[in-house]
Amino acid sequence: MQNNIQAIQNILNGMWDDYCTLNPAAKKIYNLLTAQGEIVLNDHIALRTIQHPKLGIESLAKTFKKYGYIEKSDYIFKEKKLYAKHYEHPHSDLPKIFISELELSKVSPFVQTTMSELAEQISNDLINSDNFSYCGRPWKMSFETYNKLAQESEYASWLAAFGFRPNHFTVNINQLKKFSDITVLNTFLKQNDYKLNSSGGEIKGSAKEYLEQSSTMASEIPVAFTDGSHLVPGCYYEFAKRYALPDGKLYQGFVAASADKIFESTNKLK
Ligand code: NI
Repeated sequence: MQNNIQAIQNILNGMWDDYCTLNPAAKKIYNLLTAQGEIVLNDHIALRTIQHPKLGIESLAKTFKKYGYIEKSDYIFKEKKLYAKHYEHPHSDLPKIFISELELSKVSPFVQTTMSELAEQISNDLINSDNFSYCGRPWKMSFETYNKLAQESEYASWLAAFGFRPNHFTVNINQLKKFSDITVLNTFLKQNDYKLNSSGGEIKGSAKEYLEQSSTMASEIPVAFTDGSHLVPGCYYEFAKRYALPDGKLYQGFVAASADKIFESTNKLK
């Protein structure tokens, strides 16, 4: 068990470092909170993939399962054509892992073909390695293809541009002291000049649904494509507050309607 925790901690650290390189704002917000005396734990980390024989949810889940994570619930995001599962570790300080996949059978032939062609460029050795969840983009692609994908599926274009790495980390608000109210936390973030995703309101979900979430908007970062370097939306930082179910235990699942809006945090700023 101890070995498993050390191994998974190393992977989570690798994911965090990769994520902060792409999203320096997350590290700055993390530092802002710790400077206020907070201990920042993660509620969950989100990963993206495609429904494909080589790359389904299982390709990312297997390493987490190997080190003690257990599959819990699954989710359908009809409009965004996504299917997702979440995993929990018996060691409750470890974040949940939320893995979604784009359902290729439901997208256009263009998106289907493009994503399948990208998938063919990945080696099985990479998929089978422990650091697959933060290996980055294992294929070559053009900005032209990125834009075409984005017209139909922002999710597909993000995955094509960034590959396999955390899309977001999520601060566990319940563990904060001064900022245990999501509205107070949001105000603090805005006072520090962070732009929040306001699609569907700044706070997604409610105490009634046992989960409230907010997030920053992903800032645009330069990405190298075969036809040059271009600015595209990167990763965002999320914040989650959970409420107790009638049995007194904190709800640990996700709310599909809220996550649907949260996915839009990597949309291009208008
Ligand atoms: Ni999330």
